[in-house]
Amino acid sequence: MKGVILAGGLGKRLYPLTKITNKHLLPVYDKPMIFYPLQTLINAGIDDILIVTGGNHAGDFLRLLGNGKDFGLKHINYTYQEGEGGIAEALSLAEHFSDYEKIVVILGDNIIEGNIIQAVKDFRKQKEGAKILLKEVPDPERFGVPEIVDGKIVNIEEKPKNPKSNFAVIGIYMYDGKVFDIIRTLTPSARGELEITDVSNAYIREGNMTYDILEGWWSDAG
Ligand code: G1P
Repeated sequence: MKGVILAGGLGKRLYPLTKITNKHLLPVYDKPMIFYPLQTLINAGIDDILIVTGGNHAGDFLRLLGNGKDFGLKHINYTYQEGEGGIAEALSLAEHFSDYEKIVVILGDNIIEGNIIQAVKDFRKQKEGAKILLKEVPDPERFGVPEIVDGKIVNIEEKPKNPKSNFAVIGIYMYDGKVFDIIRTLTPSARGELEITDVSNAYIREGNMTYDILEGWWSDAG
């Protein structure tokens, strides 16, 4: 299975820190933010990785990570998102790289304490569809929030005013090769972006979505 790290965007919520660098290169404790999602993929046995970046500081990713030798990788793939089309649009740039195999997508600002080893193992065995990870949070209105009925996710709402559960959909998504056809059917949301939540909802409507609850803490450092 291949991995995709989405590390574009202008990091407006972290301005002026992001005036002179990309959000995902800012320090989190003793490492640049992007080290954490990269290590999360590698720990789960994923070593064929594409980084989608954008904005004014894209070249710094290459300077920082090169071919990933410090992480034990042979090479890293890079691509560039022009403009601010949203997470799903950034993911669409991974189409050629994916070869329509299953992929694990991780947002470059998502940091977890534990690992996704079991979830990735289970998704390898899952015939088709998608898998997402949930985490109980005190402030679900800041995230994508699942509505769960009889143990099944029936819908996800992006940053709802009245959340239907106390769970956040974290920024780690597993999709099969159909994801790129799904993205082509999307239209921009009220904030003018193609939403990853709409991608996951398409799988839910097909009855092809599984989920796990993440163990250990999770942070959206963005
Ligand atoms: C994005 C997604 C949201 C998800 C979150 C996880 O939000 O749109 O559904 O819960 O990442 O980190 P953003 O942080 O881009 O606003």
